[in-house]
Amino acid sequence: MADKKQQNQLWGGRFAEATDAFVQRFTASVEFDKRLYPQDIEGSLAHARMLHRIGVLEENELDSIVNGLAVIREQIERGEFDWTIAHEDVHMNIEARLTERIGDAGKKLHTGRSRNDQVATDMRLYLRAAIDSISAQLKLLLGTLIDQAEAHHAVIMPGFTHLQTAQPVTFGHHLLAWFEMLLRDAQRLRDCRQRVNVMPLGAAALAGTGYPIDREYTAAQLGFAAVAENSLDAVSDRDFAIEFCAAGALLMTHMSRIAEEVVLWMSAQFHFVELPDRFCTGSSIMPQKKNPDVAELVRGKSGRVNGNLIALLTIMKGQPLAYNKDNQEDKEPLFDTVDTLLDSLRAFTDMLAALRPVSDNMRRAAGAGFATATDLADYLVSKGLAFRDAHHAVGEIVAAAANKGCDIGDIPLAILKNHSSVIDDDVYEVLTLEGSVSSRKHIGGTAPAQVKAAALRARERIATLET
Ligand code: ARG
Repeated sequence: MADKKQQNQLWGGRFAEATDAFVQRFTASVEFDKRLYPQDIEGSLAHARMLHRIGVLEENELDSIVNGLAVIREQIERGEFDWTIAHEDVHMNIEARLTERIGDAGKKLHTGRSRNDQVATDMRLYLRAAIDSISAQLKLLLGTLIDQAEAHHAVIMPGFTHLQTAQPVTFGHHLLAWFEMLLRDAQRLRDCRQRVNVMPLGAAALAGTGYPIDREYTAAQLGFAAVAENSLDAVSDRDFAIEFCAAGALLMTHMSRIAEEVVLWMSAQFHFVELPDRFCTGSSIMPQKKNPDVAELVRGKSGRVNGNLIALLTIMKGQPLAYNKDNQEDKEPLFDTVDTLLDSLRAFTDMLAALRPVSDNMRRAAGAGFATATDLADYLVSKGLAFRDAHHAVGEIVAAAANKGCDIGDIPLAILKNHSSVIDDDVYEVLTLEGSVSSRKHIGGTAPAQVKAAALRARERIATLET
């Protein structure tokens, strides 16, 4: 029989033997939850001040808790704190060390509190700060896209559907499509933050506490907008983390789509864009290679972020109320999503700021593939044809051009008239790439002037995103 003295100091009272060494390792979370130490200390300070306010802690007890936690924080930051799985998790490591340092006052800190509401509070404080960092980085990326869209508002490229040349568009317009995708992600994060910013403390283990706690006071100190309304829910649900991971998965999915375009455009076959060498790597065997690794990695990392979302959903799905140890498994997927988003956004912001279009190649590609065929059909409609008839006539003209190996704009007027007598020599203006993009000058259209106006509005729209 194991020595009774080896029992856990914080909860070992009712145990007759020490935890099995493997079980101790298996159940400990300190290796990964120690990064919650700033939030754990912040939460404990607020809780201690509240306990003093309601008369549970004497002034001198509060002082020694405040000072003790300050010393512990410094030790952790200097790398001198001795984390141990004997104390299972971040909460008990810090509390045990506090009691070692300051004695009995340390033992009073946990009055009216449980690790269940403590960990839920730490996670929400952590995620709130993480959302703010991610949002700030995302805002930089959005600003970069606007800068690039303004710089390249009149650069013409082919627009694609089915990855086949469809109609000419401006590169600025394409960049602003990326902007819209990512702006919605920023809005989703902002919305999610509101539901994160609710305080579980006071729920204690699950049923609340008999001490006359002042939750509003604790919440105000921690900057929470509200206190959780139901103690069972407060300690048990991790929907706030799931919601964040879902928003993160969408953000990574958008970045992955953008990355895919950068990879395609970097290929010798497209050669639409160039990236400085610092964003690329070479091949150990093929000397000519310059690979767009940053874009590829972001595309690949969307896989782990999607996986993290599925992990959290699955961890949650079978849990009865209230807290279950399953929830300890929420941390690594959440931390990984936060880290991956921050790194990917940072890499993307720098990379997209450095992305340069190869305008001649874009233009040449837009000119090939009969990209102005729809403009010709619209021209025929403006001369009185029904759209379906116009579509058919242009189909014939495209076939004729394909036969001759030229573009539709190179076909002489006499031949065009054979296909439709309404065609006049003003048609050639319509068939230019500039004519095509400039005609789409409504809100949301690809005309250079509209892209400039949209970029201006985009700046105002990100200014309203509070971070
Ligand atoms: N390490 C635990 C977690 O991450 C803290 C809460 C433990 N609560 C408990 N009753 N065992 O969820």
